[in-house]
Amino acid sequence: MQDKILDISKRRGIIYPSFEIYGGLAGFYDYGPVGKRIKENVENLIREFYVIDEGFMEVECPTLSPEEVWVASGHIENFADLMTECKKCGAPYRADHLVEAHLKKAVDGLGIKELEALIEKEKISCPKCKGELDKIYNYNLMFQTSVGPGKEKKTSYLRPETAQTTYLAFRRLWEIGRKKLPLGVLQIGRSFRNEISPRQGVIRLREFNQAEIQIFVDPDEKDTEEFKNVSKIKVRILDKNDKESDTSLGDAVKKGVIKSRLIAYHLGRALQLFEAMGIDPKRLKLRQHRDEERAFYSTDTWDVEFQSGDFGRVELVGISDRTDYDLKAHQDLSGQSMEVNIDGKKFIPHVIEIAYGVDRPVYCVIESCYAEDDRGTYFKFPKRTAPYQAAVFPLVNKDKIPEKAREIFNSLKQARIFALYDKGGSIGRRYARADEIGIPSCITIDYDTLEDGTVTVRDRDSKKQERVKIEELSKRIL
Ligand code: GLY
Repeated sequence: MQDKILDISKRRGIIYPSFEIYGGLAGFYDYGPVGKRIKENVENLIREFYVIDEGFMEVECPTLSPEEVWVASGHIENFADLMTECKKCGAPYRADHLVEAHLKKAVDGLGIKELEALIEKEKISCPKCKGELDKIYNYNLMFQTSVGPGKEKKTSYLRPETAQTTYLAFRRLWEIGRKKLPLGVLQIGRSFRNEISPRQGVIRLREFNQAEIQIFVDPDEKDTEEFKNVSKIKVRILDKNDKESDTSLGDAVKKGVIKSRLIAYHLGRALQLFEAMGIDPKRLKLRQHRDEERAFYSTDTWDVEFQSGDFGRVELVGISDRTDYDLKAHQDLSGQSMEVNIDGKKFIPHVIEIAYGVDRPVYCVIESCYAEDDRGTYFKFPKRTAPYQAAVFPLVNKDKIPEKAREIFNSLKQARIFALYDKGGSIGRRYARADEIGIPSCITIDYDTLEDGTVTVRDRDSKKQERVKIEELSKRIL
């Protein structure tokens, strides 16, 4: 299945390995013309959910930042994987992944000594050449570079998460937001992690896209009345003690499985968002991080995971209580106060973070919408994430039909609708090409169009055709 979806994605211009003519580089993928449209739609849905619905701000910060940022955040010290190499062939490995693959179970939270002891006890060797494995060491995942020449040269890093760059401007955002909490800030952008031999296609990239929301809150008010709007959503939950249940979010909060209504609310919103993108809700699960697995900055983390046919469990979003860890760390190193004063109450706000990957949801939309029937393989993207809303076909290339088709195509363009014009081959072949990239509606201009101002609109999923007046087209296909 993995090869099939990726193979189809390559051929149809969705996603394909970068730098292919030079043999590629693990962990880097291009979005082709079709994939880029889907990714934009996914990002715009995220924007709508958080900027329009929740009323949050959106910012954009540089991807490169000076060393101090990552010293303060703890990433220089802690953002590392444990690595080993084969003494014989030099192949690099994440030590925990090697042990997990051998024991067939998770080994979160083990240190260098414990992992080395397990490798020795279990006689784990290089999976490629059976060579002996070298000592384990901490391998920092950040890409280091420098900014500026000569004496001005400054050690810098490509950001491994957008979150820190949002925190840096907290004082300014606090003023712009008229000194009110909660204050929600979205940032969509690129991040970078120099992963040890990534092998999972677009699931583990070295340059990737994130959509991270930081909600600054009063630590005594980690709650929301909005929870009632999602409390009936039913979902499978796996808690940190490995207890699994099918329950509503309301019951999960009542039973104390999810302790915070604020986190539960945002888990519910994430489920609604994934469904709107076209991700199969039956394959989604909420999973709480085990204590030993949680990131160094978090006191409670929940993921929404997708069960992929190709890659197993895929984390799509992580919702964490980061407390005042980050703002306090930047206050301590920069000497700039991050404290707020609300009616005489002085404190450093806490942060609830909603950290979406973008590439993974895009992949899971593609996997969820993949379909096969007598017409072959195609994609059932919802209208909101489909790369194009419509395809426009002139039935024949003569008798004023192409002129009319162009006129209709131009009117769709003016209505800011993404449409494709296709005049090549039989109508059946053109339907097939549109289905292959998941276009929901195909519009055919024929001789009747010239007579009565109607066109044929063919629905991708039902294959049903109906006559629609030209004036009603935009409404019909959006
Ligand atoms: N900011 C959280 C993450 O990158 O996973």
